[in-house]
Amino acid sequence: MSELGRVVASLPIPGPLQDRVNALFDCIAPDRHLKTDEVIDLANQHQPAGLLVSLGMPLRAEHMARLPASVRVIATTSVGYDHIDVAAANARGITICNTPDVLTDATADTHMLLLLGAARRAKEHVHNMDGGWKIRNGFFQGLGVEVTGKTMGIVGMGRIGRAVADRARAFRMPILYHNRTRLAADLESGARYYASLEEMLPHCQVLSLNLPGGQGVLMTAERFAMLPKGALFINSARGSLVDEEALLAALKSGQVGAAGLDVFQKEPGFDTRLNELENTFLLPHIGSATIETRMAMASLAIDGIAAVLAGRAPDNRVNL
Ligand code: DGY
Repeated sequence: MSELGRVVASLPIPGPLQDRVNALFDCIAPDRHLKTDEVIDLANQHQPAGLLVSLGMPLRAEHMARLPASVRVIATTSVGYDHIDVAAANARGITICNTPDVLTDATADTHMLLLLGAARRAKEHVHNMDGGWKIRNGFFQGLGVEVTGKTMGIVGMGRIGRAVADRARAFRMPILYHNRTRLAADLESGARYYASLEEMLPHCQVLSLNLPGGQGVLMTAERFAMLPKGALFINSARGSLVDEEALLAALKSGQVGAAGLDVFQKEPGFDTRLNELENTFLLPHIGSATIETRMAMASLAIDGIAAVLAGRAPDNRVNL
């Protein structure tokens, strides 16, 4: 048994990280993504001190209750931890670690891809090319809307929100933002703060969601109606923040001109009516999906487990 103890992973460990993981832990890793019940069974069989899990593996209170008492730390390979019941982990003295910072740039890049894809009708043009470019667009056909110079309202001006703002400034987009608390001037970088989301919405030609999930539905029919008609709606944060029926209605009426979405209420198996609309550009939750970033995320999650098992408090813990 390795010095730091045993770890059960819910996902395969990629080749470049295997030596390090094996040097640190006695690691039981599968060759495919496991479901929650499978991980709980493995944990009860092997009595690990740590679990390495991913976003697709919910750990609610009833799951926590079935874990063996040996588990002291759970690290998720995601910055979001709305799939984990932190209160239940607290009650059992289990430290939860996540992966902040390392995915900021990749996620902000994806956000701009969503924005450009939605604004410029990328889905329909890619579809045309997939079909051998059979549709010849006339001069006034297939037109999108300009992104450059449009006012962007960002909800959630944390690390990812600020990285989106940096990129949007290169498109000469004035930035507004709504956050629980106002940022210091150096972090605002000229962005205009709105304490009230309702007051900001009418000014947003582009509305950008960049806040953590797990806080209920933010974008309701009433709030979509407060946007200027034809506004673009971009979400790379969490689908749970959006009333998808309200979004569908707003897209159909043209209240929302186009939406770029990387996240959905249900993943996978999302509401395919969103894809049937012409004015959407959709991706399957690939915000952080670059080789560099996913390696860094897995590495940081492993660091968190190693720190806790070595008796240190890791910077990437979200509780305790
Ligand atoms: C996260 O890490 O929470 C992201 O949603 C993954 O892309």
